[in-house]
Amino acid sequence: MPPACLLMGTLWLLLAALNPAWGSNNTLPLVMWHGMGDSCCNPLSMGAIKKMVEEDLPGVYVLSLMIGKTIAQDTENGFFLDVNTQVSMACEQLAQDPKLKGGYNAMGFSQGGQFLRAVAQRCPSPPMKTLISVGGQHQGVYGLPRCPGETSHICDWIRKMLNSGAYRDLVQKHLVQAQYWHDPLNEDLYRTHSLFLADVNQERMVNESYKKNLQSLEKFVMVKFLQDSVVDPVDSEWFGFYKPGQGTETETLQESALYKEDRLGLAAMEKAGKLVFLASEGDHLQFSREWFDAKLLPYLR
Ligand SMILES: *[C@@H]1O[C@H](CO)[C@@H](O)[C@H](O)[C@H]1NC(C)=O
Ligand SMILES: *[C@@H]1O[C@H](CO)[C@@H](O)[C@H](O)[C@H]1NC(C)=O
Repeated sequence: MPPACLLMGTLWLLLAALNPAWGSNNTLPLVMWHGMGDSCCNPLSMGAIKKMVEEDLPGVYVLSLMIGKTIAQDTENGFFLDVNTQVSMACEQLAQDPKLKGGYNAMGFSQGGQFLRAVAQRCPSPPMKTLISVGGQHQGVYGLPRCPGETSHICDWIRKMLNSGAYRDLVQKHLVQAQYWHDPLNEDLYRTHSLFLADVNQERMVNESYKKNLQSLEKFVMVKFLQDSVVDPVDSEWFGFYKPGQGTETETLQESALYKEDRLGLAAMEKAGKLVFLASEGDHLQFSREWFDAKLLPYLR
């Protein structure tokens, strides 16, 4: 190495040592979206994960999305606010945040996983670089076997609404979970009436900009929980689902028409090495810090 280079290197090292934040600011910001029944800022969930990421990546900017004006509204909106409206609200927040101008990584928990995918598909600016879906349901759910957290009374009610008519306009408009309810026995009803999921999954038509925008991700990481007792079918966390027409046999993403016809660009992404399928032992959203640091952190550096 020529002496000048050596000197510059030494100088840089010295500066970096004097200011620990220097050099670490290259870490992309992280945007998180919480799951059903949760909020942006619950110290036991999103708050704890935000803190963990900030410890792991000193100087990183972490934005945990709040949908609404208060934490209570944010939780309530996770059940009752039209998902398309929620996605627009998120896009607006991201576009207005000067710290995200250069791009960001995103990590969605449970339904936040599919909502952030919609953000990637609909709102290319600022650019999302890596999307991590932690237990997200990319082909929706057909059943709510168990609800996480302390929201079981709401869950019982939601289950009744979904079973009695998830695709009725009134239910679609006002119940978040109905918008990713996917009834494999009634694929036509799903295709025509699902206001959110059927749209982002290109069931009615192929929106070329969804395809292009999703493919501009560097990585799309999907985490599945092997003992998940909340999501039915759990295959949805890896973009699989029940085979059309019945509710017992499942198919993988790669076996689906969505992939074979490459309506969303996922086959092209897999070919380009952009899809990552991770499995975690444990129930829905249950992971250890060791697992997080070993498996997910590398995608956030
Ligand atoms: C780097 O990050 C630290 C910690 O968040 C912050 O105090 C500092 O202003 C940042 N520096 C730059 C150049 O953005
Ligand atoms: C495709 O999606 C974009 C982004 O949401 C939207 O603006 C556009 O209207 C859609 N195109 C069609 C043909 O629906």
